Amino acid sequence: MEQPQPHILFLPFPKLGHIKPLLSLAELLCYAGLHVTFLNTDHNHRCLTHLQHLSAHFPTLHFDSISDGLPTDHTRNIQVLRDLTDFVVSLKSVTKLRFRDLLAHLSTKSELPVTCVIADGIMSFAIDIAKELGVRVMTFWAFSPCSLWSFFCLPKLIEEGQIPVGADNDMDQMVRGVPGMGSLLRRRDLPTHYRIQLMDDPVFPFFFEEIKAMIRTSALILNTYDDLEDPALSHIAPLFSRIYTIGPLTALLTSRIEHDISRSLSSSNNLWEADHSCMTWLDSQLLRSVVYVSFGSTGFMTRGQMMEFWHGLVNSGKPFLWVVRRDDIEGAEEEQPIPEELQEGTKERGFLVDWAPQEEVLAHQAVGGFLTHNGWNSTLEGIVAGVPMVCWPTVADQNINSRWVSEVWRIGLDMKDTCDRSTIEMMIRAVMEERREDIMRSMDRIMKLAHDCVNQGGSSYHNLDKLIEDIKQV
Ligand code: UDX
Repeated sequence: MEQPQPHILFLPFPKLGHIKPLLSLAELLCYAGLHVTFLNTDHNHRCLTHLQHLSAHFPTLHFDSISDGLPTDHTRNIQVLRDLTDFVVSLKSVTKLRFRDLLAHLSTKSELPVTCVIADGIMSFAIDIAKELGVRVMTFWAFSPCSLWSFFCLPKLIEEGQIPVGADNDMDQMVRGVPGMGSLLRRRDLPTHYRIQLMDDPVFPFFFEEIKAMIRTSALILNTYDDLEDPALSHIAPLFSRIYTIGPLTALLTSRIEHDISRSLSSSNNLWEADHSCMTWLDSQLLRSVVYVSFGSTGFMTRGQMMEFWHGLVNSGKPFLWVVRRDDIEGAEEEQPIPEELQEGTKERGFLVDWAPQEEVLAHQAVGGFLTHNGWNSTLEGIVAGVPMVCWPTVADQNINSRWVSEVWRIGLDMKDTCDRSTIEMMIRAVMEERREDIMRSMDRIMKLAHDCVNQGGSSYHNLDKLIEDIKQV
């Protein structure tokens, strides 16, 4: 009997930080000749303007979409508690049902039946549905592995009363009970949602349920590389029958896919059109002089915090390129004049954009520092480009990522839970000047390991081949 052809259905959590790495993996699989259907929500599908272009490069890559169940005009801002609740509830009801219908159809009635589902680690309903319909399912964890290991330990931490953490608790106290992280993990490095004032937050139970469900899959795929996270990986690996570390995916794309195609992918795998005028501005700046500032696709700050960043950047005396997403700053929709004391410094040294071609920016020789929220993609992109970081994490895995950046990998400084102009100025100067030599020594080592692992003979390169072979076993 003829062996059925592999056909993989991808289901990302509907936010850019998840879509982008999953789409990179989908492209790598298509490049190896596999068929992929990439499923977005209708809302995101409308934003992905480059689909035509992607299909031209990857004839076996197809896109489909389903409803996220929210009205078209919903803001879908997951940093706002009410929006997040709507989002989570809606995905687990409306989207879940639609996904079931779609998978039932695609796995039986389509010309090329789906043989494997690759679902985001926080879209666990896909695991149960795939199992019910007899389709293989693998999980892709879009956050960092060090966060995954700490999330696995959360129920035990709650049982022991170590979390939730209240305002009166010492936030610098070490967290006991996460094996391998005893001397590093403080209460403030756990996700913000495990602080007491946020206990009604739907994310509190959400992560538990998602993590518990993950273990029911046959394989776990991680956007990391072995040399970066050996200790966390050694704890996670025994929980799964197979584990594939294939990151940093952006670097693996460059290494595995023809240069002309992979070069255009970093901007294609995005939801919004980037403003390339900043590249011309960067061309006019001195070598390693610029601080690039971006808080990712879901970051949210108050107007007051924004002013502190602005003062800190101007006072540091360094040129800065800042991604200011107006919808993510409280009150920024009302046009506000630039405060007088910031006008000159901003005009002289600053360049503001709505959305930057981040990977190109980080790779530019004028960029010397990265002020980041430490989303996992940004953290890896900073490592691949070898740009040291000043960290201002806010939610999810960002708190632990920034701790690892500063204390484990020693490639940046962590300013979590503070947001005042003098700290910002001081940390920028430290990363750009006073502590640069030390930090760059560690960064060069970690960056080299990242590049080695995606080249032939490297662990991520090899693991992608193993994953492809595994998927082919229909
Ligand atoms: C979300 C979570 O917030 C994060 O904690 C988790 O690790 C991944 O999912 P997000 O906040 O969007 O991600 O941050 P990040 O993971 O850094 O992803 C943002 C992506 O947007 C990056 O790949 C970055 O290159 C891209 N980006 C950002 C741009 O292309 N242009 C910009 O101007 C800013």
